[in-house]
Amino acid sequence: MDVRLDGKVAIVTGGSRGIGQAIAEEFIRSGAEGVVITSRRAENVEQAAAEIAESTGAADRIEAVVARADDRDQADTTIAHAVERFGAADILVNNAGTNPAAGPLVDVDLGAVEKTWAVNQMGPLMWSQAAWHGWMKDNGGVILNMGSVGGLRPGPMIGAYNISKAALIYMTHQLAMELAPTVRVNALAPAVVKTRLSAMLWQGNPEGAAAMHPMNRLGEVEDVAAAATFLASDQASWITGVVFPVDGGQDGASTLPLG
Ligand SMILES: NC(=O)c1ccc[n+]([C@@H]2O[C@H](COP(=O)([O-])OP(=O)(O)OC[C@H]3O[C@@H](n4cnc5c(N)ncnc54)[C@H](OP(=O)(O)O)[C@@H]3O)[C@@H](O)[C@H]2O)c1
Repeated sequence: MDVRLDGKVAIVTGGSRGIGQAIAEEFIRSGAEGVVITSRRAENVEQAAAEIAESTGAADRIEAVVARADDRDQADTTIAHAVERFGAADILVNNAGTNPAAGPLVDVDLGAVEKTWAVNQMGPLMWSQAAWHGWMKDNGGVILNMGSVGGLRPGPMIGAYNISKAALIYMTHQLAMELAPTVRVNALAPAVVKTRLSAMLWQGNPEGAAAMHPMNRLGEVEDVAAAATFLASDQASWITGVVFPVDGGQDGASTLPLG
């Protein structure tokens, strides 16, 4: 099976590094007509677009846009920009995420919790609304939400983050029901993938962190990008409302507690 995105236009929030950048690059390699990546900082998102342009040789199919993940107006303008620049907004990847609130919930800083939930849960709702009204309700499409194994069951240290991901996963099921058959809505649930966001979970003891996964290694951003490309493609056209683990076996092949 050849997983292709020929002719599709995608928006990937949080595309300036890590998993989002890898997804954008894989979408281009799979034939996407255009990919818009977003982040808060022009220098970051423009640098990522330049790297993707260089590695794929497709500078005309990648576009950098500065937009906050928790801002509905900026979601609207970004979707409109994708339609104007590339002619469509077929795929939305709600990938941007943050985790400033560590520690036990009873003592966690409430301002940091609000920020976490705004970016990780309210943001994807805002961008899904924008994509629906700006393109998908008339033309169909695919929404992919970046959940986490932490959204499937509780784990130590990052409870506020885990709650935001649990809400995002529930929202995935809800929107899949509401938007079918026009739009498919699925979530990915990665375990520990080597990025800046997760560094506190693995940098001190990479071997120990790897051993928490039955496949005995940490995830690479390309592992998540491959799964995202399949779920975004027409090959997954009968798949909606699922939470797809990309986790080295943590969920399905392990009795270890999820981190
Ligand atoms: N890495 C893991 O182990 C792991 C596991 C499970 C789930 N995830 C999820 O995967 C997604 C990507 O994470 P990652 O590990 O690739 O993290 P990362 O390397 O830290 O990248 C996060 C991206 O989000 C952007 N971003 C952060 N806050 C934003 C905001 N308010 N508005 C717009 N953009 C914002 C960042 O760009 P700027 O800083 O340039 O704005 C960056 O492009 C997140 O949703 C995360 O929760 C990660």
